[in-house]
Amino acid sequence: MSHLAAKFLIKQVLHKPSSVLGLATGSTPTGTYENVIEDHRKNQTSYEQVQTVNLDEYVGLTPTDPTSYRYFMENNLFQHIDIKAKNTHIPNGKANDLQAECSRYEQLLRELGVDIQLLGIGRNGHIGFNEPGTSFQTKTHVIELAESTRKANARFFDSLEQVPNSAITMGIDSILQSKEIILLASGKNKANAIKQLASEQIDKFFPASALHQHPNVTVIADREALTFCDNTEKLQTV
Ligand code: GLP
Repeated sequence: MSHLAAKFLIKQVLHKPSSVLGLATGSTPTGTYENVIEDHRKNQTSYEQVQTVNLDEYVGLTPTDPTSYRYFMENNLFQHIDIKAKNTHIPNGKANDLQAECSRYEQLLRELGVDIQLLGIGRNGHIGFNEPGTSFQTKTHVIELAESTRKANARFFDSLEQVPNSAITMGIDSILQSKEIILLASGKNKANAIKQLASEQIDKFFPASALHQHPNVTVIADREALTFCDNTEKLQTV
């Protein structure tokens, strides 16, 4: 699964060396990044001209905080490839004026234009940090995290209390502006979300369903995440 997802990113970069890659955090894409790093070492795929934009960042965490998404990206990808630090973009969760930071980030997304966006999915169907009920028209914004999301992400922190209450996230509309989208889902705890996504019903309370409005989305899921999908004949298996 990770190998296939990495192939999408590598192919994009080989086709257009100055690609803009939209990246995600969480456990799911770590294998993808490992494959990208391995390919960089073996085949010298270069990221010198690549720009990256990340989906989201917790409010209140510094870039050097090991639980921040900036730290995650540095550790899991950036420091292992030849990307330029100035070309890696993540919302600043420590900005004094969070609204101004959201506008700056949205403007940046517009200027760069994302070629391919990698997404994970929350158990409640969130994409980025867009929680159920978020309007599909949203641009980059500050969001209050659902209690279930804070609990799901508590494993990265020492305790639940340390999980920030809010985050800056690309909006659903910001995500839909990407030319291509790859959604990754792994494990049984994503099976309900993938079942709901496969039902093709568009529902504001299931944010990932907005992806049905995009013309170029690929879902890469493992067998466990597909446990409750009865219409897998529509899916391409690899
Ligand atoms: C977080 C991130 C999402 C990610 C989700 C699932 O909430 N903001 O971008 O998709 O977690 O994470 P995991 O892959 O660890 O299950």
